[in-house]
Amino acid sequence: MRSEQDKGIKARAAAIGILFVMALGSSGTLRAAALSEEEIADLVFIREEEKLARDVYLTLSDTWGTGIFAIIASSEQTHMDAVKTLLDRYGIPDPAAGMGMGDFSDESGLKDYYIYLVDLGTESLIGAMEAGFIIEEMDIEDLREALSRTTHRDVSRVYTNLLRGSYSHLAAFTYQLERLGVTLEP
Ligand SMILES: [Fe+2]
Repeated sequence: MRSEQDKGIKARAAAIGILFVMALGSSGTLRAAALSEEEIADLVFIREEEKLARDVYLTLSDTWGTGIFAIIASSEQTHMDAVKTLLDRYGIPDPAAGMGMGDFSDESGLKDYYIYLVDLGTESLIGAMEAGFIIEEMDIEDLREALSRTTHRDVSRVYTNLLRGSYSHLAAFTYQLERLGVTLEP
């Protein structure tokens, strides 16, 4: 009698185990864990902040024809792509979809920055390098904040790569400014 009961319990436990594994299989392993509202807002903003950098550098590359802007613009494109991959993974709509040069969904001031930085960068070559310096300083600050707010390893990995890129761009613009006789304090 007792062993019959044991068998029943074991069979039920095994059945529950199977259900449990199925539940994990359908929700736990297939879907990425949800992002917080803050993490979503950061990703959406950074996608367009990288676009700001790319668009300003493409414009300044046309103005000055110096290689540095074209090279760094293509690096910003890879940054934009990396953030887009994350947006797709988490099912977040792309704010930059269908946006032309210098246009943004963002309403917190990216468009104003674009106009200001292109004006600054078109005035003189020093202004152009200063625009780059300002962009990278801004990116570094925002990326560091976003990094401190994410708990997702794939997101923090992308932010860390973007940060590394921004530090190297900042060093490039600082070097160009020094060659032009300008020393900027961060
Ligand atoms: Fe950059």
